[in-house]
Amino acid sequence: MVLKICFSSLLLVSCFSCSSNGTVEKTNEKGAKIQPTAQDLYIEHCSICHGSDGKLGAAGAKDLTQSKLSSVEVQKRIEKGKNGMPPMKELLGSKKNITSMTEYVLRMR
Ligand code: HEC
Repeated sequence: MVLKICFSSLLLVSCFSCSSNGTVEKTNEKGAKIQPTAQDLYIEHCSICHGSDGKLGAAGAKDLTQSKLSSVEVQKRIEKGKNGMPPMKELLGSKKNITSMTEYVLRMR
């Protein structure tokens, strides 16, 4: 019994440590790192809930093609989250990524 508990907590810990640290690393054919595009970041961090076309609505996510938020509000929502929407500031890493993600989301309409 004790062993079983130990084992499952071990599993839990290893699950946490293997979770993505948010950096999508892409390399070109020569193996050099290239900057991920907004689409890469979107597929990596957002499509699970919003779907690749923005319409999925999983976990209560809003349809991004129907969103009426201003660009400032979209950016704020991405940075800070709301209810089931997790804050994405840390994950996206840089201001540049947040700005290009905001533009990407606005283009879905
Ligand atoms: C864990 C699921 C989840 C992930 C991952 C997620 N979202 Fe969301 N998102 C939500 C939910 C839930 C809402 C609705 C929040 C509310 O208003 O209650 C939402 C709302 C939004 C809104 C506001 C839409 C509106 O009109 O109110 C934007 C913009 C948005 N998400 C963009 C993104 C972007 C960009 C990413 C990736 C960087 C992302 N989301 C990742 C769940 C998620």
